[in-house]
Order: sequence, then structure tokens, then C-alpha cells
Amino acid sequence: MSVPKFCFVIHPVSLEDVARYEPGAKGKGAPIVRKILERMPSWTAVHVTGVRTPDGRETEGGFVADGLLPEQMLAFPREDVYARILRAIDLGVALGAQIAGLGAFTGVVGDGGVTIAERAPIPVTTGNSLTIAAGLQSLLRGAREMGVDPAEATVVVVGATGSIGSACVRLLSRSVGRVILVARNATRLRKLHEQIADELPCPSEATTDVSAAVRRAQLVLTATSSTQDVIQPEDLQTGAVVCELSLPHDVSRRVAALRPDVLVTEGGNMLVPGEPRFERVREPGSEFDLNLPPRTALACMSETMVLALEQRFESYTLGRGIDLAKVVEMEAMAARCGFTLGGMRAFDAAITPEKIAATRAAARERRARVLA
Ligand SMILES: NC(=O)c1ccc[n+]([C@@H]2O[C@H](COP(=O)([O-])OP(=O)(O)OC[C@H]3O[C@@H](n4cnc5c(N)ncnc54)[C@H](OP(=O)(O)O)[C@@H]3O)[C@@H](O)[C@H]2O)c1
Repeated sequence: MSVPKFCFVIHPVSLEDVARYEPGAKGKGAPIVRKILERMPSWTAVHVTGVRTPDGRETEGGFVADGLLPEQMLAFPREDVYARILRAIDLGVALGAQIAGLGAFTGVVGDGGVTIAERAPIPVTTGNSLTIAAGLQSLLRGAREMGVDPAEATVVVVGATGSIGSACVRLLSRSVGRVILVARNATRLRKLHEQIADELPCPSEATTDVSAAVRRAQLVLTATSSTQDVIQPEDLQTGAVVCELSLPHDVSRRVAALRPDVLVTEGGNMLVPGEPRFERVREPGSEFDLNLPPRTALACMSETMVLALEQRFESYTLGRGIDLAKVVEMEAMAARCGFTLGGMRAFDAAITPEKIAATRAAARERRARVLA
């Protein structure tokens, strides 16, 4: 019997990403690189093999790429962007893919995958169900490591009206003291908050002022479609935990330099079962640099692999009103297939036990200084 196949649409999330994929781009001016990316036809970038569940099921697939940067995906005419994403999926179909995942902004642009799924020849998923499950696990792991009791904590969800953010608000409200919803569009934010406030088991508020909200929070989960930094070091409480799911990242690099007392962790990384290999198609034998540790993939890629392994060839996660039952089901399917939460990581480096101990010590010292 043939192995079930998937494809996953990737694109560069920053100019640094472009230089990592394509060393020839280094040193070229940003406007030239943007123009080249805009004109590049879709291509098959990566061949994925070796994904194997503990009970011996396998899948293989391809990462098919579009060249646009996030800001280009948001700025270009929507129909043109949809057409580009569909061309990339067609490359996957030609390789035998039975399901397609939408990476980063290919799952954000427009209506979060709904139109793409209507037009694609195979089922499509944004991968957001597993991203949500992984993000919540990561935030709660960070809270445990920093000694923050979620039941006593105020948690801020930045990007609260989004596909990932709105599900995170509803799921987190079951285990935290208070939840603050943050987004830019005040009307959409107010509407969502009015809709769900009565069902949330904890007190809740909504605001467009990210800085004021973050200043009140011990726990922060961020899942925005911003292409700029959203979380600044000046706003973070001593000992706070920030879990970031956004790609490109929301947390300013200045946090790494200026706030040794704060734990920032990427929320959406998963360890892939088996001996996964991500081989560059253009340079057979060389590994594609996902900027992640070995055997690690993003949760959205992992969801696509899980659906292939489970032979669930259906458009699983789409749009902005995610079914929470699917998040729970996907988390269970991923566990059954042997996917586990990736090691803690932020700012391109692993978070070691020593680093956590140092972060806790820095938080203790800072609190003591404030009290002195
Ligand atoms: N790690 C992974 O495996 C993984 C998987 C999937 C997606 N992602 C990433 O997760 C992020 C969110 O995806 P999504 O599908 O949930 O997107 P989405 O549905 O478009 O939601 C984006 C949210 O961000 C808010 N937002 C945008 N700019 C903001 C800003 N400057 N300040 C505050 N809020 C802002 C939006 O509301 P307003 O417009 O009203 O502000 C909205 O609430 C994206 O960066 C995506 O690439 C990561």
C-alpha cells in the first residue's frame, strides 16, 4: 500500500529567512530582494521523509513554497495571493499530496483558508488546531517553570479576535484567574467580547491598548498577524511568562537583552516521531534549515502530517471560529501519532534548565530591589 502524502505551503517570514534559504540573497538590498520574491514562481523546496508513528504508520510529503513576505501577502491584491497559494498547492498535488497545510501567512491572508479550501483540488488545513493545543501547553509549562499559579494569574491574549487567539481565550479562561483580550480593531474586539463574556468561566476584559494590558499580566499569549514587534520590554511584569505563536515573532528582541527576569517561549514547536528528514529538493542530501532543533517542526506542519498519518483527508481547521472540540481531538490524534511538545526555545536558542533557574533568580532579585 502506498504511503499517505501531504504538502505544506511555506513562505519566508522575514528577509533573514530569505538569506537562510537562499544565501545568494545576502548583501542585496531589501527592495531588490522583495521584487525578486514577487516575481518568483512557486517551487517545491523540501522533501520530507522518515515520519513514523510508534505503531509503524508513515507519511511523506513536500514543502511547497511561495516567495512572498508576510507584508507582501497582506498588501497585494487578495485574489493574486490566493492564486499564488493555489499554484503552490498544485505542485504538492503533482507530487501525490492528499492534504495541504497552509503555513504562516498563507493561512492568515483573507478568510483564514476558507476560500483556498473551496478552490483547492485537495483538502486544506491551517494547522491552527494543533497550534492552539501546543500554545496552551507551552504557556502552562512556562508558568510551572516560573512558579506562576495560572488560577491566580491575569492572562493577556494578544490577537484575541484571530483564529488562534479567540480559541486560546476560550480555552485558557477555564484555568486562569482573569483574561484580557487584545486586538486593534475595537469594533470586532467589542463584538467578540460581548458574544463570549457570559460563557467564560473567569472574569474578562477587552482593550486595544496592548501596553496597558501587558503591564497587568503575569501570563501573556501572543498570536497576531502583525509584521512589527508588539511586545516591548518596558511593559512586562517581573517574572512574567510570554508564549508566542506568531510568525513573524511579536516579541521584541530587546526583551532578550533587557529583561533577564522574563521567560519568553515559542509556543508552536513539536517533536516529530520517527527519523524525520527535511531534505532540500534543489540540493539533495542537504537538510533544509527550519531554524529549529533536529526532529522539530511547527505545530501547523505537524497537524498536516497527523491528518495524513490518520488518513483524515478533510479540510480540518479553517477560518476564525475554530471548533474547540477539534482542538481537543487533534491534540489526542497528535499524541497517538507520537508527536510531543518541542523543547522550550526562544530568540533562536534552547531554554536550558540553567537558563530557567537564572530567569527565576533575576525575577527574585528584581522583586527584592523594588521592595527595598
Ligand atoms: N507556530 C505555528 O505553528 C503557527 C501556526 C499557525 C499560525 N501561526 C502564526 O500565528 C499568528 C496568528 O495566526 P491566526 O491564523 O490566528 O491569524 P488571524 O486569524 O489573522 O488573527 C490575527 C490576530 O492578530 C490581531 N492583530 C494584528 N496585528 C496586531 C497588532 N499590531 N496588535 C494587536 N493585535 C494585532 C488581529 O486583530 P486586529 O486586526 O483587530 O488587530 C487578530 O486578532 C500568525 O503570525 C501566524 O503566522 C503560527
